[in-house]
Amino acid sequence: MRLQNKVAIITGAARGIGQAAAEVFCREGATVIIWDLLNEGEATAQSLRNQGFACTFQHVSTTDVPGIEAAARSVHEQYGRIDILINNAGITRDKTLLKMSFADWQQVIDVNLTGVFNCTKVVAPYMVEQKYGRIICTSSINGVHGAFGQTNYAAAKAGIIGMVRSWAKELGPKGITANAVAPGFIQTAMTDAMPDEVRNQAVATIPVRRIGKPEDIANAYLFLASDEASFVNGHVLSVNGGQAL
Ligand code: NAI
Repeated sequence: MRLQNKVAIITGAARGIGQAAAEVFCREGATVIIWDLLNEGEATAQSLRNQGFACTFQHVSTTDVPGIEAAARSVHEQYGRIDILINNAGITRDKTLLKMSFADWQQVIDVNLTGVFNCTKVVAPYMVEQKYGRIICTSSINGVHGAFGQTNYAAAKAGIIGMVRSWAKELGPKGITANAVAPGFIQTAMTDAMPDEVRNQAVATIPVRRIGKPEDIANAYLFLASDEASFVNGHVLSVNGGQAL
């Protein structure tokens, strides 16, 4: 029970990696609040409540600042604190530079970069007030190395690393750590959309010769949210089976 009495907001936790994180965090004793724009978030929360855990869903888009402010206020009013923010929500709109529209660029920057800024900007003051917080943001192997067809996504995921390192410096003195996780190739709806051939080629480049599971990333979030990681700040934790070596 490494997160006993902790209140955690996880964005994009209706499904995929975020859903796995909601389960892991609940099992470790946290009260989990799911922020997602998919109404499936309610079923995810309900199934965790059915197992006796404390989990609620709030319909929040990370691009909607008034919505984030209202949701954060209600979490704080109900639980009296917000200990952990996992900025996990993300989208892809993959195209090569020559084919990428300005709208493709803007949508991905809005969700994957500005969405992370929005949630952290709103939640951080609650953490400052309580002199404690853990901010964990989901970058990507492709934010570190770039990727064919992902100008928008790689830019946003690289931007997250810059923000996290800035927050580590600004918020560290206030009892708050900020770290990023850079997942490699993880089996979720996001990667299920890839053609089989592309997926098989990618797995062949991973030294552990398997695709990652959402739990692999959830466990990295757990470490960074736990007391064991209290001296880890401004770090980018790669969780990719050694793919980038
Ligand atoms: P997913 O597509 O299965 O889940 C993403 C969730 O984010 C969905 O529930 C979706 O509704 C939610 N979401 C999207 N836009 C939102 C918004 N504006 N506000 C609130 N919620 C929103 O994706 P997956 O694979 O679970 O990805 C989670 C994170 O991990 C993302 O940030 C993604 O970029 C990152 N990642 C995933 C990798 C993979 O191989 N699956 C690899 C590297 C990074």
